[in-house]
Amino acid sequence: MDRRQAFDLAYLACAALFIFGLMRLASPRTAVRGNQLAAAAMGVIIAVTLWDSGAHNLTWIIAGAAIGGGIGAYSARAVKMTAMPQMVALFNGVGGGAAALIAFSEFHSAAQANINLPTNDVVSTLFSAVVGSVSFAGSMVAFGKLQELITGSPVTMPGQKVVNAALFLVVLALAVWQFAASQSEGLLAVTMVLALVLGVIMVMAIGGADMPVVISLLNSFTGLAAAATGFVLNNDALIIAGTLVGASGTLLTQMMGRAMNRSIANVVFGAFGTGGGQAAAAGPGGGQVRPTSADDVGVMLAYARRVVIVPGYGLAVAQAQHNVRELADQLQKRGVDVRYAIHPVAGRMPGHMNVLLAEADVPYTQLFEMDDINDEFARTDVVLVIGANDVVNPAAKNTPGSPIYGMPVLNVGDASAVVVLKRSMNTGFAGIENELFYEPKTTMLFGDAKDSIVNLTGAVKAV
Ligand code: TAP
Repeated sequence: MDRRQAFDLAYLACAALFIFGLMRLASPRTAVRGNQLAAAAMGVIIAVTLWDSGAHNLTWIIAGAAIGGGIGAYSARAVKMTAMPQMVALFNGVGGGAAALIAFSEFHSAAQANINLPTNDVVSTLFSAVVGSVSFAGSMVAFGKLQELITGSPVTMPGQKVVNAALFLVVLALAVWQFAASQSEGLLAVTMVLALVLGVIMVMAIGGADMPVVISLLNSFTGLAAAATGFVLNNDALIIAGTLVGASGTLLTQMMGRAMNRSIANVVFGAFGTGGGQAAAAGPGGGQVRPTSADDVGVMLAYARRVVIVPGYGLAVAQAQHNVRELADQLQKRGVDVRYAIHPVAGRMPGHMNVLLAEADVPYTQLFEMDDINDEFARTDVVLVIGANDVVNPAAKNTPGSPIYGMPVLNVGDASAVVVLKRSMNTGFAGIENELFYEPKTTMLFGDAKDSIVNLTGAVKAV
């Protein structure tokens, strides 16, 4: 086996490790190991690529990797679980930006050497320069919105869709021009600047609460840009890794859209969901809200046979996962069957509730996906809805015309009693009323979820 074959074999083995790593992400039990496996494979690929390239400028590369890796490791450790979407946006944007810059540098090297790039390299370079730039700019805006550095409300201009489409066509025309007629560095720079503007205005027009779906979409763009860069650099590992990111980002975007019952076009052009708002004073049909106390709910829970906990975004905001675990432990000590019902888009990112509850060591066997638990609510005494709203909104089933009509929701209304823990009557992500809160079997325990749960645990202990 010669040196080239050995490198190719290493790339192939690492690509297989990426796929094994991804497969392991399917279960929380194996996810950490899967992540480590893929990270180790990436480490090997970097080493092999450096070796293969003759390791020029090694000092610069090591210094860059140490600074970038240090910042990455620190921020990943320090980030709060609720801020994870914006961290992913930042990392994703940097990936797109890197792909675009590499493409530009290849163009620049060819221009300096006075050679015309072969056709397939021109196509790959232009693709990764444009798509990487859109992804970089869009991800930075998504980060700014989620971090509340800029407004989370959609910022649109008159004729937004026409402007978007026109800018897209100009970028496309410039790319085609460079492909067909002239390979010019200056023109590529202009094309990239316009692609950056496109990324900014496209994402500015989308509401802050839709950012996780947008980030997943931009993530797939970054993957495709990286794959195109792999063609430019003739690097198989980059092609495979980029394609995996592109494909998984696309699938994730589709799955999120399906679980929210929204098309990707609706997310990108719908100006929906600006992050919650005030609810009307009276409920639909003039229904009444029934506030309750921790002591009353404590008694109800202590004598229940089965309790199902429905966690939502508010649980993550309150960081009450450990307190929920304590409450569940107390109930189980009394022989209560406690389960958690996990809606696929509860919270603000895929797997948000699973990660949150795993942090508190809630056993996976107590976590039930929506389809596995929806029929069980009819045999449940008490449902505790903790900081969840849209994922338990019956309008999704009963109100044609509602923005969430058709979205699959948890059938909590089938249980004997429902207790909702939230701070006010404010709406959730979709910004709409929830009839569940006005139903006769529902009571509302108002307050921050953490305080309410601590009080509930005390009340159960006191029974
Ligand atoms: P939401 O519908 O957003 O409702 C969360 C509720 O939590 C709010 O009504 C809020 O009411 C309450 N809350 C906030 N902070 C709280 C605190 N400290 N203590 C107690 N309650 C608190 O959440 P959900 O039911 O989890 O639904 C998720 C929504 O996000 C869906 O519409 C989904 O489509 C969307 N979405 C999800 C994802 C993914 S992948 N998960 C991505 C994008 C969008 P108060 O202000 O009255 O307390």
